[in-house]
Amino acid sequence: MLTQANPAELPVYARLALQPERGAGATVVGADGRRFLDLYGGHAVAVSGHCHPRVVAAIREQAERLLFYSNAVPLASRDRLLTILAEMAPKPLDQVFLVNSGAEANDVALQLARRTTGRRRIVVLEGGFHGRTLATLAASGIQRYRDLADSSGGQALLDLTVVAPWDRPERLPALIDETIAGVIVEPVQGLAGARDVGAETLRTLRRACDAAGAVLIFDEVQCGCGRTGAFTAAQATGVTPDVLTLAKGIAAGLPMGAVLLAPRIARQVAQGDLGTTFGGGPLPCAAAAANLEVIRDEDLPGRALVLERRLRRGLADLRAVRSISGRGLLLGVVLDRPARPVQLALFERSILVGSANDPSVLRLLPPLVLTDGEADHFIAALHEVLS
Ligand SMILES: Cc1ncc(COP(=O)(O)O)c(C=O)c1O
Repeated sequence: MLTQANPAELPVYARLALQPERGAGATVVGADGRRFLDLYGGHAVAVSGHCHPRVVAAIREQAERLLFYSNAVPLASRDRLLTILAEMAPKPLDQVFLVNSGAEANDVALQLARRTTGRRRIVVLEGGFHGRTLATLAASGIQRYRDLADSSGGQALLDLTVVAPWDRPERLPALIDETIAGVIVEPVQGLAGARDVGAETLRTLRRACDAAGAVLIFDEVQCGCGRTGAFTAAQATGVTPDVLTLAKGIAAGLPMGAVLLAPRIARQVAQGDLGTTFGGGPLPCAAAAANLEVIRDEDLPGRALVLERRLRRGLADLRAVRSISGRGLLLGVVLDRPARPVQLALFERSILVGSANDPSVLRLLPPLVLTDGEADHFIAALHEVLS
């Protein structure tokens, strides 16, 4: 299943033996013409499917007029994105800073939590992953990434991070005192294995942050943009953070991250405090505006819930499946065996699924436009592989 990397490239990725040339909906087609059913979604990016015609048209139309201008000017495509984002995002998170990736969005969120409170310490949940800048590595709840922060000179940041249990809400309030600048949490932990932190824990964090004057940050880089059955997990659970980050699914594959801020945080940010060259550029903004319109107009969050029920029902009676974790279309199939050979066997059957930090979990993060027939095809293939 794995292929040799190009010798000119740093060998940091294990590459699949598939070179996608085209994509449509939940299908990707390799250079050799082989068609794959994509339940990995290009790493949760293809929320509206691969190459949705409305998104492609918006990109083409923008590219023909203007590829780039910076934040020195207002842009119609940026305005269009901000308008639809304000309509779809949880209230009152109506102030937005646009960046280029999930890690950058979270890095900004952590900076603002520290700057606006004048405090330094951050609480993270065990299993949380927030990106690969030095500050976000140090804010991971997975030891492997904390070790990378350590060996990269991030000891001071690590010392300012408290790792809290992800599944023991009763332990959280004691950890969130008046020395804490902020708490960062993925409402559904992606890399950990599609673990749903749950509304009760999020409510506990909300109350504890309010009591301590700390900033609550939801990292919805992976679970946001409709995947949990609402535009954000904040809306799905009814718990509103002070800062919410989006990336992956927001611009259908063009690089973009967004930091959504409550007015009480935004009020403390002055001109010049943040900046980026490419963030908020015309091309990703045109793509993101069209993509969010598709998510709204096709009710893709509603579709995620329908498909979640179908997948859960279809996989429930498999003996090798211990449980199904997650929410909406960010699901973990927890197996009674290592997931890697199962992932390989599915690849042989032309189906792409994700893995997770937990070696027994297959992670499903398909496009929300997956059809019933495609979901059933995956269910049948998994039955075959596991029996
Ligand atoms: C929850 C979460 N946060 C942050 C990131 C980092 O995003 P990016 O790779 O766009 O920097 C990821 C990427 O996998 C993620 O899943």
